[in-house]
Amino acid sequence: MILTGPRQFVRYRLFAAGLIGFCVANGPALPSLNAQDYPPDMARGKAVYEHHCQNCHGPTGRGDGSGAVSLKVPPANFQRFQSFLKSDEELLRTIEHGVVFSPMHAWRGQLTDGEMQDVVAYIRWLSEQTR
Ligand code: HEC
Repeated sequence: MILTGPRQFVRYRLFAAGLIGFCVANGPALPSLNAQDYPPDMARGKAVYEHHCQNCHGPTGRGDGSGAVSLKVPPANFQRFQSFLKSDEELLRTIEHGVVFSPMHAWRGQLTDGEMQDVVAYIRWLSEQTR
């Protein structure tokens, strides 16, 4: 008993350290768990964005795409604080259902749930590049 005591203590400390490490490593991912069930695929998000969104929202997400000039309603500028403050859920809903009386139409049916989540992650990444 006396001999196994310290060894058990070491094992406990290792376990505790592992537990803390696990929590720290997983901490930052927790807030987005509701909107994202799995890690976003940035490469796919980028491909979706370049194919479907860049023409209006622009290469850096400022809403200055080549197709934007002819629009009455300007495309959202993702770099603006107004967009930045919105939750992933809100952005996702806008992409899914579109905006009424706006060139931003619903993408449900054209993009899969996964593609929409990936493109949100890509928009987030774009908006962080200038900060
Ligand atoms: C035809 C041009 C056009 C295309 C293509 C387009 N959008 Fe938009 N988008 C807009 C416009 C215009 C708005 C602003 C709507 C408003 O505020 O009335 C907007 C708004 C948004 C918003 C809301 C931002 C906010 O701050 O609320 C998101 C998110 C968004 N677009 C994502 C996308 C994604 C993702 C794609 C590609 C799958 C895409 N858009 C394709 C024109 C476009």
